[in-house]
Parts: sequence; C-alpha cells; structure tokens
Amino acid sequence: MHEAANVMLELDDIQSGVLRPRPAPYAAIYVLLRIDDRTAGRELLRRASAVVASAANPTSPAGDAWVSVALTFQGLKALGVPQDSLVSFAWEFQQGMAARARAGRHRREQPRTLGKAARDAGRPRRAHRASPDAPRLEAVLERARKAYQELPGITAIWRQDCYALPTETEAFGFRDGISHPAIEGSGMPGTNPGEQPLKAGEFVLGYRDELGGFPPLPRPEVLGRNGTYVVFRKLHQRVAEFRRYLKAYSKGLEDEELMAAKMMGRWRSGAPLALCPLRDDPALGADPRRNNNFLYAADDALGYKTPVGSHIRRTNPRDAAVPGVVRLHRMIRRGTAYGPPLPEGVLEDDGADRGLMFAFVGAHLGRQFEFVQSEWVNSGTFIGAGDVKDPIVGSNDGASSFTIPRRPVRRRLQGLPRFVVTRGGEYGFMPGLRALRWLADLAM
Ligand code: HEM
Repeated sequence: MHEAANVMLELDDIQSGVLRPRPAPYAAIYVLLRIDDRTAGRELLRRASAVVASAANPTSPAGDAWVSVALTFQGLKALGVPQDSLVSFAWEFQQGMAARARAGRHRREQPRTLGKAARDAGRPRRAHRASPDAPRLEAVLERARKAYQELPGITAIWRQDCYALPTETEAFGFRDGISHPAIEGSGMPGTNPGEQPLKAGEFVLGYRDELGGFPPLPRPEVLGRNGTYVVFRKLHQRVAEFRRYLKAYSKGLEDEELMAAKMMGRWRSGAPLALCPLRDDPALGADPRRNNNFLYAADDALGYKTPVGSHIRRTNPRDAAVPGVVRLHRMIRRGTAYGPPLPEGVLEDDGADRGLMFAFVGAHLGRQFEFVQSEWVNSGTFIGAGDVKDPIVGSNDGASSFTIPRRPVRRRLQGLPRFVVTRGGEYGFMPGLRALRWLADLAM
C-alpha cells in the first residue's frame, strides 16, 4: 500500500475516464450490455481491455475516441466473479441504485435501473465513448458492435447519446463542467486554487483517503486496486417549466437572470455570484483560471452573494460553516447533455426528452454521492432550513420555497415545482486495467 506523503497514483492502471476531464465540444454514447453467458462476457472484457486508455496515456488505443468500461454488481456476478470477492464490494454497490433508493437513503427519489431489460438479468455495463463529433463516434461504435455482436449471450439493451456544446451549457442554459477537485498524485490540477488537493483514496481504491486509512478494497487486490465506483443518472429536465417559473416570479428580464443565478449560484455564463454578485460577467464565466477561484466563509458567510441554498453552494459548501467535514463529501462529477435543446424563448413543453446524463466518480458511494443527494440536495437541515431542498435539482413538489438572503428583507420564492426528474440510473464499478484483464481471465 502507498504511504500518505507524496503518493503517486498508478496512472497506467487507472482508466482514463476516471481522472481526465472531458473536452468540449464532445459527443458520447453510453451503451448498456447484458451478459447472459460468462465465457462470452469474459471475451468481451478481453476485447474491451485492449481499447481502454489508461490515465497515463495521452492517446487512445481506440483512435480518436475514448472507451471506458464499468460493471454493475449483476454484471460481476454474470462474469462468475467468486462469492468471497462479490461480498467484498461496497454494500451500496451490491444493493444497486434502485434498492438503495427504496431502502430510504434518498427517500424522495425512486430511480429505475437503466433499461427495462436490465432489471433482472446479468448486467455488465457501459461502453462510454467520446469523440469530437457524432458521425466519427458512430463509426467507432460500429467497430465495437462488431466486437460484441458475434458473441453469444451479449445483448445491447440500452443506448444513450449525449453531447457537450462548445459552450458546455446544459439544458437550463447554465455553463457546466467548471468545478473539479484537485487529487493528490494525479498530476491533474483542480479548478479551485483555494482547495487543498484531496487524498487520492477519495477517488481511487488502494490509496489513503481523507480519514487517513484505506477505503475497503474489493478482493482480490488485483481486482479492487486502481478501480473506483461510478454512478450514472439520466436526469430529465423540464426546461419549459423552469423558464415559465422564472418568468412568472420575476420582475422583468434582468430580474429573471438574477433569479436563475441565485438558484444556481452562478450566472448562466458560468460567472460565480461569489465574484460578481450584482451583474453577469461573461468573460469571467468563460475563463477557467478565474471562474472557480472563490470561497464563501470570509466575505459571504450568510449567503448575500451566493445563497446558502443555491445548487452549487449546497453540493459543495467549500469553506462555509456547515455541520461535518465538506472534504468527505466531494466528488468527481460530469454532466453531459442529451436530447434536443429547447429553442430559445419557447415556454411550452414540446414533449421531447432532454436533460443531463449525470456521472459521479468516487471511492465512497455512501458518504459522497448518497450523502450529497439526500442530506444536501434533498434536505435543508444542514443549513438550518428544515426540509427545504435544492431549488433546481431537488425533489420539489410545487409547495417548496427558496430563500434569497437580501437586505433589508430577504426574498422568498414560493411554489417551486420539480424541474428535474430521474429517469433511471445505476451504480457501477470501474476496474483498473489489470483488473479488466483479471476478469477476462477468470477460469471457473
Ligand atoms: C439535471 C440536474 C443537474 C443540473 C442541470 C446541474 C447543473 C450544474 C451546474 C450548471 C453546475 C455549475 C458548473 C460546475 O461547477 O461545473 C453544477 C455544479 C455541481 N453540481 Fe450539479 N446539476 C445537476 C444535478 C446534480 C446532482 C444530482 C448532483 C449531486 C448529487 C450535483 C452536484 C454538483 C456538484 C458537486 C457541483 C460542483 C459544485 C462546486 O464545486 O461548486 N448536480 N451543477
């Protein structure tokens, strides 16, 4: 095991998709494959492991696309991973997302697993490919299709295309892809110069974490080491409803933008309220050296600039005073848009499915993803606001409110409906490259 000081991650054994930020523009396809035959499943992993890039590799063996592979718990079972190994995985992962939601960790959410057919069968998982444009990506997918179609007992049961625009705007119109944590030993800088790099064990298994120990490592070590957990969620966004709400409760266009910014914590341009609370600064929003360079405690403890209940302050309170230790609840997060954008100015729903493929990467499903989702997004207790939820992504019900601290009197937005609906999701394990080969070589 590695020592705490000067830890170096074994980048050549970690999948590139774990650590490397995505480019923009960007196109991606998620494919969910079901394994009904373990021999074919192992062959599939052998073929996949040959095209997965490591985080040390600046180029991809798949040419101009990048391939990542993750497995569900059912997928590991379908491959014939021995029982003593299966039980060594994180309990949340063993249960899977839908069961975790039913068990009450995120009570107000009842996500389905992705793909109907996925529910009962062995579910190995995700080829996730990224390339600069969709036609070239389709060609890569065609090559992949050839690789799995001839294998008996391997079925593609779900596919989702997604993209990042050059502006990286998500469906509500906000710039996304800004805030990333710095990770010790990864060689990849975070985006907030005010955040001390986090211990590698927060994000990759086999290294010390923020608590000073090692996160439980799935057995055998070759399988667990340099792997990590991932969460995928397909989040449908009610864009017309969001626009109508802003219009109905604001006093004109300028106020509409301010309201949207107060709910998010950033202007749509990406410029943080923490640095420009009164008016938007698009140049700042687009500048990666400045747009995440801020903290809250010194000059905004009460949230007059960035409301304590806004999306980005809830999901990462930075140095603000909240119960607990913020560093134990950080995550690598990637959002990719799916579905056609709703044309500018349209206020009626056109029935199209659009939203965000949300991806979480971290070593601790429970205290990172599930905690943030249930305690910070869908509760307000930690900021002394009872059951008031995140105004943008919380499971609001039309009776919810959002408070904007203001002098002399605060402003309260009432009647918040639900703007984001979970359409499905699952927990996965993203093995290291040696582990992929170990899985392919399973003999029993
Ligand atoms: C459709 C749903 C969602 C939308 C539209 C959305 C949108 C955004 C945007 C625009 C940002 C600011 C850009 C950035 O910092 O990169 C952001 C930040 C963030 N979001 Fe979300 N988000 C969604 C769901 C979620 C969920 C479900 C979680 C966690 C459970 C989450 C966690 C975060 C975190 C941790 C940050 C970074 C905060 C920071 O470091 O300042 N988001 N989100």
